[in-house]
Amino acid sequence: MKKTIRDIDVAGKRVFVRVDYNVPINSDLKIVDDSRIVATIPTINYLVEHGAKIILCSHLGRPNGQVEPKLSLRPVLARLSQLLNKPISFAEDILDKSTLAMSKNLKDGEIMMLENIRFYKQEEKNDEAFAKKLAALADIFVLEAYATAHRKHASTYGIAKILPAVCGFLVEQELLIFDKILNKPEHPFVAILGGAKVSDKLPVIENLLDKVDTILIGGGMAYTFVKAIGGNVGMSVVDNTKLELAAKIMDKAKEKNVKILLPIDNIGAKEFSENSEVKVFSSGFFADDYQGMDIGKKTIKMFKKVIKKAKTIIWNGPVGVYEYERFRHGTNKIAKYVAKNKGTTVVGGGDSVAALQSLGVSKKITHISTGGGASLMVLQGKTLPCVELIEDFE
Ligand code: 3PG
Repeated sequence: MKKTIRDIDVAGKRVFVRVDYNVPINSDLKIVDDSRIVATIPTINYLVEHGAKIILCSHLGRPNGQVEPKLSLRPVLARLSQLLNKPISFAEDILDKSTLAMSKNLKDGEIMMLENIRFYKQEEKNDEAFAKKLAALADIFVLEAYATAHRKHASTYGIAKILPAVCGFLVEQELLIFDKILNKPEHPFVAILGGAKVSDKLPVIENLLDKVDTILIGGGMAYTFVKAIGGNVGMSVVDNTKLELAAKIMDKAKEKNVKILLPIDNIGAKEFSENSEVKVFSSGFFADDYQGMDIGKKTIKMFKKVIKKAKTIIWNGPVGVYEYERFRHGTNKIAKYVAKNKGTTVVGGGDSVAALQSLGVSKKITHISTGGGASLMVLQGKTLPCVELIEDFE
């Protein structure tokens, strides 16, 4: 077990909290989804109530070490300040000595926020001198950026090597739920995997074969599996470099008595567009000039049966082309069935979460993970490098 802010005295101490406020912001600089900000409120409130001096640090987007005004954290600061009903001071230039002075002048319970840490090229290089400068701003490091815990950067990893490091409540919650479902799941345990990129998910499936009872596969990744077992997938997206591995995984699943269910019918389109002509195809029997865009009715029915009986579910990735409303049907149905399930349900990945939100059923899910790449790494059976640096209980 990792130490959290409950296990360290924070009163009167300067606490550097690495959060992940990498939130979607539109061209009017309005935050489209503030869930990652909201998710850190319990940690910030705890620190305020316990008299800590708080220094918040995050990245936003991928500015590659350049200052990009549209990726400033100012809109995030405004939203957080509104949510906390508290002023937050802003440090525009992290390396300027005024920032160090600002951290030293904080009073107990006061908060300051640093500008986008990725405006500095030293961040992603995990530059040691830069990490030391960040560490000089504080006495304690708190990892609250679960979604960035797989990145060995100066503000996530470098600093945690210098300061006493503990986790915040969001990271604690994410670690506990993934530990529960991966190591002590109630059975039947069902994984639902989708999305277009099969290469990210194959190591996940390999790891899950020792844990789950059934894997439901949809989305673009399904076509690599269908082709691997000899089906015709027409123009559907396929990773030809992974066919052999996909076939091996299917064999391994049989040996381990894990059911892998691929779609049995699909909505195919002539072009990758919302207005294309569409037809339904049985899996493996696509017309050569059509591509898969969504799962069909029979597949939805088959997946529903399995989801209904599950006691533990992990879902990551849409089962159709979610960017087009016309092909969201399958994903929305899956969202509805997962939300109805009374067992432990964990959902990650942008489109799966968006489907739950659009149906207004997010609250019915046991845990919505804030970590995309980080959760995939955990599902692959790997540990997150930044979490490894957090102090353990003796
Ligand atoms: C995410 O949104 O997955 C995290 O904020 C990490 O962002 P990155 O992939 O740009 O490191």
